[in-house]
Amino acid sequence: MENIKGLKRTRLCTELSVNDVGKEVVLMGWVQRRRDLGALIFVTLRDRSGIMQVVFNSEADPELHKKAFQLRSEYVIAVRGTLALRSPEAINRNMPTGELEVLAKELRILSKSETPPFHIEENSDANEALRLKYRYLDLRRPDLQGNLILRHRVAKIARDYFDANGFLEIETPVLTKSTPEGARDYLVPSRVQPGKFYALPQSPQLFKQLLMISGFDRYMQITKCFRDEDLRADRQPEFTQIDLEMSFVDVEDVIRVNEGFIQRVFREILDIELPVPFKRLTYKEAMERFGSDKPDTRFGLELKNVSDIVKDSGFKVFSDTIANGGCVRAINAKGAGTFSRKEIDALGETVKTYGAKGLAWIVIEDNGVRSPIAKFLTETELQNLKERLEAQVGDLLLFVADKEEIVFNSLGHLRLVLGEKLNLIDHDKYDVLWVTEFPLLERDEEENRWVAKHHPFTSPMDEDIEYLDTDPSKVRAKAYDIILNGYELGGGSIRIHDIELQNKMFNIIGFSDEEAKERFGFLLEAFKYGVPPHGGLAFGLDRLVMLLAKTSNIRDVIAFPKVQNASDLMTNAPDYVDEKQLEELCIKTVEPSEN
Ligand code: AMO
Ligand code: AMP
Repeated sequence: MENIKGLKRTRLCTELSVNDVGKEVVLMGWVQRRRDLGALIFVTLRDRSGIMQVVFNSEADPELHKKAFQLRSEYVIAVRGTLALRSPEAINRNMPTGELEVLAKELRILSKSETPPFHIEENSDANEALRLKYRYLDLRRPDLQGNLILRHRVAKIARDYFDANGFLEIETPVLTKSTPEGARDYLVPSRVQPGKFYALPQSPQLFKQLLMISGFDRYMQITKCFRDEDLRADRQPEFTQIDLEMSFVDVEDVIRVNEGFIQRVFREILDIELPVPFKRLTYKEAMERFGSDKPDTRFGLELKNVSDIVKDSGFKVFSDTIANGGCVRAINAKGAGTFSRKEIDALGETVKTYGAKGLAWIVIEDNGVRSPIAKFLTETELQNLKERLEAQVGDLLLFVADKEEIVFNSLGHLRLVLGEKLNLIDHDKYDVLWVTEFPLLERDEEENRWVAKHHPFTSPMDEDIEYLDTDPSKVRAKAYDIILNGYELGGGSIRIHDIELQNKMFNIIGFSDEEAKERFGFLLEAFKYGVPPHGGLAFGLDRLVMLLAKTSNIRDVIAFPKVQNASDLMTNAPDYVDEKQLEELCIKTVEPSEN
């Protein structure tokens, strides 16, 4: 193999322009493609910036032409030559350097390559498992490189923006104690203290609060978080947060500073000016109108409560559900009256996956309605339903009757399916909003106890504190999520800064004083020594970049991501370790039980 001795790279491919024509340039990179046209060989050379055409002409230099003939895809080369304008008919307008080419005078082959397992090109449709196994090759693709460059820019904007607003970046530990975000912990065994484990942080939540107690006033960190939970298209077991915390603030202060951040990201990355203040919905309104606490507000199809209309209905599914404390809600799928029976049945299957028992429907026709339930409804009921749902000829009305939670969840998801199916979603639109006033607590039915909806350090709203003793379900929190196109981009809250209220919160969620002390003793201890009112928020960096990059796959914006079963197909992690390592850690493994 040859080396680069004596050659110095002048520029990256796309840094060259027509102004450089005539200059001698040295480019280094990979062979994207070689095309032989008799006396001419065309090689596309790829570097991080893009590609450039290089021409080897046998008439100018037969030896060099012969050497170029050896080039194969993904060979690493250095080329010295003269930058020239292409002849008019050879100009490629789809390529940033499409007017240019390098007339080669020297070629060095720096490294050869076997035929790669898939062709490296933009929008590759090669199987994802194969691409992840050879991730370093996949990462040569311009679209993935673009995503990671974008990610770098967003991280840089975050650091610049929060720095300019007085935030300090402070690192917090990775080997630590279990934190309270509610997922399962990743554990790391201690060798020097056999039987004891560190937990990897689910977030720096407690440390950032302690930094406020230390007086740092404003903290931010771009940091890895670890959660052992079921993966989804927008979830990874290790992911990155832009995490921040502020002292002497209330909800409005946190919201304002973060709107400024998101605004700046959109301005600098996409040249889009998002108007501030962002829209806001209370949790209650979001659920009632969209059936979701992370509503995609790019389209309508809002839910309507029709319980009052059908509470005495002859359709027992409706009236019995309401009598038993449930509700009936509906969506008017405008213009979907043309759906076939099969399509409507498929919608029924959709709601069933979210726990609904069925999906009742009515199609509005010219002279009446078509519906399996119409025969149970009175003329007045039908008329009232049509009015409430603003139904017109050609519409399809869809109903779910159940307890509120299931109705919201199933219709909320059905709404998204319909939005896509009816082509109502403008994929070029960015719709951002805050959801506020979340419930402080939710009921864990399995364990029959209250759990914190956000985390147990979240402050109740001042006007609801009185219900903590009488009716905890009524207490709203000073918590807020920021939602973009139906994704939860970030979330946070104002924290409790009063030790008595904090202890009370632990008691309500079923920690005895001893348990609270054992798990969060260091925080409670710190609370004895002067705590500023404080609050903060964390953005999911991966999700933010994913949305900016217009992909729905979080793996597309992570250099070395994990797949569904949390393994890394390239390194094969997680993997077995040597018996000796386990012995040192005093660990014995057992066969997993059947379930
Ligand atoms: P939360 O748990 O809401 O809050 O997390 C904040 C944001 O992190 C992102 N996120 C994820 N991204 C990818 N994969 C995951 N598995 C994953 N889990 C969460 C989401 C989410 O909105 N300590 C609090 C913040 C605070 O109160 O200040 C916290 O971690 O975008
Ligand atoms: P059935 O009388 O059970 O055949 O149901 C008649 C129609 O009501 C079918 O279209 C069912 O899908 C629908 N249905 C059944 N249970 C519910 C429910 N809980 N909410 C809404 N529709 C339902």
